[in-house]
Order: sequence, then structure tokens, then C-alpha cells
Amino acid sequence: MADKTSNQMWGGRFAAGPDAIMEAINASIGYDQRMAAQDIAGSRAHAAMLAATGVISDSDAEAIREGLLTVLSEIESGTFRFSTALEDIHMNVEARLKEIIGEPAGRLHTGRSRNDQVATDFKLWVRDQLDAAETGLLALIRALLGQAEAGADWVMPGFTHLQTAQPVTWGHHMMAYVEMFGRDLGRVRDARARMNECPLGAAALAGTSFPIDREMTASALGFDRPAANSLDAVSDRDFALEFLGAASICAMHLSRFAEELVIWSSAQFRFVTLSDRFSTGSSIMPQKKNPDAAELIRAKVGRIFGANTALMMVMKGLPLAYSKDMQEDKEQVFDAADSLMLALAAMEGMVRDMSANRTSLAAAAGSGFSTATDLADWLVRVLNLPFRDAHHVTGTLVALAERKGCDLPDLTLADMQSVHDAITADVFDVLGVDNSVNSRTSYGGTAPAQVRAQIAAWQDRLR
Ligand code: ARG
Repeated sequence: MADKTSNQMWGGRFAAGPDAIMEAINASIGYDQRMAAQDIAGSRAHAAMLAATGVISDSDAEAIREGLLTVLSEIESGTFRFSTALEDIHMNVEARLKEIIGEPAGRLHTGRSRNDQVATDFKLWVRDQLDAAETGLLALIRALLGQAEAGADWVMPGFTHLQTAQPVTWGHHMMAYVEMFGRDLGRVRDARARMNECPLGAAALAGTSFPIDREMTASALGFDRPAANSLDAVSDRDFALEFLGAASICAMHLSRFAEELVIWSSAQFRFVTLSDRFSTGSSIMPQKKNPDAAELIRAKVGRIFGANTALMMVMKGLPLAYSKDMQEDKEQVFDAADSLMLALAAMEGMVRDMSANRTSLAAAAGSGFSTATDLADWLVRVLNLPFRDAHHVTGTLVALAERKGCDLPDLTLADMQSVHDAITADVFDVLGVDNSVNSRTSYGGTAPAQVRAQIAAWQDRLR
């Protein structure tokens, strides 16, 4: 018989228990207890299948089922005592089950290994996160659609290089983010569809000689099918990496939008006013209202992308099948998922609550020679100038306006004609920002009619 200090789950061949340092580096219970519900769901499905296939008796399966429900309620109520000596959630649950129901607990691990068990638990956990991300993204997209609808024809400056480029509409700008988060939604759904194969029953790596029914456990756990190769099933973490990849891109989108909100809410821009509910004050400067939520969202991409890199590094050199390195998958994914869900919710709240300052947007839209391209296009369309010549004439007019300290619409007709004598008073029609945005009716362009069509198309997709 093994020394009684050796591990009660696998200590048969061991004469002594682990060193304290060994226990510290080996244990994952400090964090994998977050997968308790998934672990118990997996065990319940496995036990029911073992009974259905005659591997264990119905009465043992029933005892296991009842016992697992007790364990779950102990964990949920906070009375469960997690043990580091029992390493991880799988062995903590099984050991407690043994205390509660005795001998039948020892039959639960028939035809199964912690390798397929952890892969299953973790997949179920990540799948829930993909679903939560989908919900969060949909809420954010709806909030953006609300903003876009309210300001479909509000003019604002469009930027390239963060320099005034051409006027665009507020609705168009909001809808750009709808497109981005819409792609994130697609990535999340794709990842979920691809990952939904059940590892359970792959056992340690080679499958099992027991007559198990993997279709049965797969369907009980909401998987589309069992994973087809047992070696792959226990050593695959693509599902976690796809989640992190999709989360990284989404966090990058959130971060770009957050950066715009930080800029837009500054006193120099005043494009938006963030609500008090999503701002903070300064302990020394009484006038301050800081966009902390936006700043923190902007920063979260670092941890999420860091998690993606970390797990790629964990996985990249691992031979088949399971290696203990893979225990390092969970903390990164947990942290990334927490960060992503919080960032999505905070962004949704901020977007829902914020008000766009229509007057500041319009004033900024008309400054910085934003309709210079419209002027050049007019010279092409009406005077039949080659575009390059029109570009040059317009540049000369911009320089003239700059010297006079005014904007393009403030130049006189005489000013215009001093640069090109064929220019007529009609030119002033295209220098206004409303005319400018209304003219950009090409598919996907900024004209309010286009923007409203895109909003309607999205509302249809979400119905
Ligand atoms: N705690 C382990 C993990 O997270 C569970 C699997 C352990 N398997 C093993 N053969 N030691 O990966």
C-alpha cells in the first residue's frame, strides 16, 4: 500500500508525497475551480453514458449523479473546501464525491482520463465565453445603431492621418464600427461552430477499450459530434486560441474606438459628451471629467493580446499528445475573457449614454478646408479640367485662403477667378459641408441616404 502521504488519486506507485514546491507548481485548483460547473456537467454525462452502455450499474450511476449534484451545490454555496494536494478541479470533485457516496465514486473515471476531461471542461467554458461575447457584441452593435440612426445626417470632419480630410456623417462613422464589430461577431460564431466537437472519451490519448458511446456524451453536452481523433482531442487548444484571436481583434477595435472617444471628449474637440455614469473626476482638479472607461478599454487589448501570445508560446513546441504545459492555458484565457466582457459592456454603456454635440461636429466639419476635394471635383465636372490640374488649382486656392486667414467658402469669386478665370459663382454650392456629404452617394459612401440604407440592412440582419 502506498504511503498515506502520497496522492490518493494516483499515488499507488509512490512511496512519498510531493515536496511543497512541487505541489505549488503542480496545482491548478487556485484557478481551475472556475470550471467546476463544466467539470460536473462532463462527469454527469460520462456517468450516464457508462450506465447506458452497461459499463457501470444504474444504481452506481444514480449515486454518482446525486453525489455530483451535492458537490455542485457545495461549490455554489461556497462551503466546498478546495485542496491543493488534490491538484485540480477534476480530482477535488472526485475526492469529495468519494467522501459523499463512497465506492461508486471510484467507478466514475472508467474509460476517461483527466486529459480528455480537462479538454472537455475547458471547451465548455470557452464555448460559454463565445456565447457571452456574441451577446456583448450584439448589445454594442445595437447601441451603435441607435447613435447612427439619431445622427444619420449630422456632419462631422472625416480624418486621414488625424488631419481633416473630407466631411462625413456621424451616422457613417458609427456604422464603420458596426461593420468592425459585425466582423467580430462573425469570428466568434465561426469559432464556436468549429470548436463544437467533444473530446470526452478520447481518454488519456488512445481511446478506451470500454464500449463507450461518444455520440451520447457529445450530444448530452451540446456538442455537434465527438472529436474524431483521440490524440488530437486531448492535445488541441485551437479553440482557446481562436477565442483569443477573435478577442484580440475585437479588443483592438474597442481600443481604436476608445481612443476616438478620448480625443472627442476633450475640451479641444467637444465632439461628444460622455455621461457622468461613465466618467470619473479628479481628486485635485475640480473641473475634470475624465474618460477613464475609454482609457481602460484602450488598455485592455494589451492583456488580451498578451494572453494570445502566451498561449501560442505554450503550444508551439509541444509533441502529441497531452503535456502538463497545457495547464498554463487557463489563467490567460480566464483573464482575457473577463477583460473582453467587461470592455464590451463598458463600451456599450458609454455608447448608449453619450451625446454627440451636433454643433461642434458641424463647426469642425466646415473647417480645415474639408471641401477642397469637392472644389477639385467641381473643376473637373464643370470646367472639364483634368483631375491633376484641378488638384493644383484647388491647392493654390487653399494656400490663398490660408494667407487670408479664412476658409474656402469665405473666398470671393474674384479670389477664385484670380487663380482660374473660368470659375463661376456656382462653385460655392459645392463648398458647403451638407452638399458635400449629400453628394457622396456611391455604395458605402457617407451620404445620409446610404447611411440609412446600411442601418436598415443591419437592423434586418439583427431581427
Ligand atoms: N490540471 C490539469 C490541466 O489543467 C489537468 C490534466 C492533468 N492531466 C495529467 N495527465 N496530469 O491540464
